[in-house]
Amino acid sequence: MAVFPYELDFNFRIFGVKARQIIDSRGNPTIEVEVVTEGYGVGIFAAPAGASRGMYEAWEKRDKDDKRFAGKGVYTAVKLVNEEVAQALVGMDSRKQFEIDKRLIELDGTPNKSRIGGNAIVATSMAVALAAADTYGLPFFKYIGGLRANLLPVPLMNIINGGKHAGNELAIQEFMIVPAGVDSFSDALRVGCEVYYELKAFLKETYGLNAINVGDEGGFAPPMKKTEEALEALVKAIEKAGYDSSTVAIALDAAASSFYDTEKKVYRIDGKELTKEELLSFYEELVERYPIVSIEDPFFEEDFEIFAEMTRRIGTKVLIVGDDLFVTNPERLRKGISMGAANAILVKPNQIGTLSETIEAVSIAQDANYRTIISHRSGEVEYDAIADLAVGLRTGLIKTGAPARGERTIKYNRLLRIEEMLGSESHFPEFKVFPRKP
Ligand code: PGA
Ligand code: ZN
Repeated sequence: MAVFPYELDFNFRIFGVKARQIIDSRGNPTIEVEVVTEGYGVGIFAAPAGASRGMYEAWEKRDKDDKRFAGKGVYTAVKLVNEEVAQALVGMDSRKQFEIDKRLIELDGTPNKSRIGGNAIVATSMAVALAAADTYGLPFFKYIGGLRANLLPVPLMNIINGGKHAGNELAIQEFMIVPAGVDSFSDALRVGCEVYYELKAFLKETYGLNAINVGDEGGFAPPMKKTEEALEALVKAIEKAGYDSSTVAIALDAAASSFYDTEKKVYRIDGKELTKEELLSFYEELVERYPIVSIEDPFFEEDFEIFAEMTRRIGTKVLIVGDDLFVTNPERLRKGISMGAANAILVKPNQIGTLSETIEAVSIAQDANYRTIISHRSGEVEYDAIADLAVGLRTGLIKTGAPARGERTIKYNRLLRIEEMLGSESHFPEFKVFPRKP
């Protein structure tokens, strides 16, 4: 049998790379990159942006000295992609993702991707992969995972917003519902929506009309002061929707670096100043009282030791998730694994900057039996590729906000379509993706 030389399939060669500035869900500029192959495959992606960013994330390049868009413009990054990056990538094989990403990293030449910008690099890296998939005529999740791409994720749906994402006094950033006790993604989404409606009704009734204003990720931002108030509201909403903790559990993202005082070494939460040991006891109590299955970034992102202590103490009951702790960085993840600092990782392609490094982080985590959660950012763009990444990389879990607002629902709706495409081939994780069934 004659074998057509892979290298000679010019259809996959990159023909053009074009960047432009668009705006994200907070109205801030961001960079969008479009890649076209010689076989007319098109890939397009735009960088999302975090508000509670980890210190060690890839650099987000913005035009600080330019008055337009209040210094948030990405005109320089756009120019760099249209000139330098395009020149470097045109002619390369879009299927060779690892080679492409290595080229981008070398071209940038800095440890934190600050010269070209992590935002410019992630948009380019993802657009290349999407263009290669399109050239093959494959849905993106199939391109990423082939026949193994058949596991739909359990959604962690952020329906009460606090911290840096809301104008209220809740220290904890995200209060999520986890509709894991169902058989399919579409059922999980339905149950999540039903709880969301009940929460809205409950908040309006209890706190008044202002309580149903929403935060950055589409969750409500009620005028609450204490962690327990938010948890009680979730429990009520779950009950009113006709479910209990065997169907819907709770997850938290503390994003604790945002309420940590680095000088006094205390955490400001619920009107108190807690030491890390006191905060750990506080979490332990919450886990006893509520059906909590996952806590993300419970402590300051530099304190691997206290993460490890928490994982030793309650890691058999809940997921301890590193987001700002690991920043999707294979090196930081390896360190965490060797110290037993967590049992799960939040995966955000724009934190590290390339698709290959994102894939590497997921592989390292899965090899170490860590759970993996693909995640959006609080500032999002109406692209759905992370839904495909969740299925393609078999992460089993996804975090992409409330089931409201287009930049969030585009990911949920994509998962509905993927589930339909897979039909009887699709699987949904069992509740045991979490250490305990509540
Ligand atoms: P961010 O928040 O996108 O503002 O960083 C999301 C998160 O902390 O998980
Ligand atoms: Zn987080």
